[in-house]
Amino acid sequence: MSDLQPSKLGTKEHWDSVYEEELANFEEIGDEGEVWHVIRSFGTESVEKMVEWALEHVPSSSNASILEVGSGNGTLLFGLLDAGYDPITLSGIDYSRGAVSLAKEIASKRGGGAQSISFSECDFLKDEPKVLDSTQGADESGVWDVLMDKGTYDAIALGQKDENGKSPVEKYPGRVTRLLKPGGYFLITSCNFTEDELNASFTTEETSLLYHSRIQHKTYTYGGKSGSICSSVAFRKRLP
Ligand SMILES: C[S@@+](CC[C@H](N)C(=O)[O-])C[C@H]1O[C@@H](n2cnc3c(N)ncnc32)[C@H](O)[C@@H]1O
Repeated sequence: MSDLQPSKLGTKEHWDSVYEEELANFEEIGDEGEVWHVIRSFGTESVEKMVEWALEHVPSSSNASILEVGSGNGTLLFGLLDAGYDPITLSGIDYSRGAVSLAKEIASKRGGGAQSISFSECDFLKDEPKVLDSTQGADESGVWDVLMDKGTYDAIALGQKDENGKSPVEKYPGRVTRLLKPGGYFLITSCNFTEDELNASFTTEETSLLYHSRIQHKTYTYGGKSGSICSSVAFRKRLP
C-alpha cells in the first residue's frame, strides 16, 4: 500500500474548520458546500456511479440498512434517497459535529423525507454507530447490510502515525468487518489508492471480506499510460 505522508486532511481540526465554514455559508446563502473532490468531476460523478452500483446490487426493495462512513454534507445519502431508497434505512456518521449539523440542515431544507435520514456524530475507528430502529432492517447487535465510503478512508490514511509508526487507517478494515452482517457489502471510492491496493488492504484473512465487483470510472491517458482519477471497489463479507 502507498506509504502516504500524514497531512492536515487527516486531522479532525481540518474537517471541523471546513464544515464550520460550510455551515456558515449554508446558513447565510444556502450553499450546500463542496461535494468533496480532488478533480471537480470526482464528486458528482462518483456519487452517481455509487448510486447505480447500489441500485444493481442492493435495490431499494431489499430495504437494506445502509451506513455511510464519513458522510460529510450528506450528498451520497441524498443521492440514494433521490434514487428511491427509504430514508429510514439510510444513515451517515461523521466525526465532525459541523458535518452532522450541515447534513441535518440540508436535509431539513430539502424535505421530501430527507429529515428521516439519520446523521450522527461518531468516530468510525472508535465508537459504535447509532443502531437503527430494529423494525427498519438493522440488526440489534449493531451490524449493517451495506457500508459505503467516499473519500473517508483516504482522509484517515493521511492521519498521524502512532509511536510504532502505525497509521490509524490500519484499524479501518477490522471496523468494516465488525460492522457488516455476513453477506453484507462494503463499497469504497478512493482517489488515493488503486484497486489493487484496496484489494490488498481489505481482503486479508482477518477481514473475511471477498472481492465482489468494481465501478468503471472515466479513464485518461497520459505519457502513454492509462488510468482513472479514482477507484471504486465493492467487497462482500463471507457467509458463515
Ligand atoms: C474527504 S471527506 C468525504 C465526505 C463525503 N463522504 C463526501 O464524499 O463528500 C472525509 C470525511 O470523513 C470524515 N472523517 C474522517 N475521519 C473520520 C473518522 N475517523 N470517523 C468518522 N468520520 C471521519 C471527515 O470529517 C470528512 O467529512
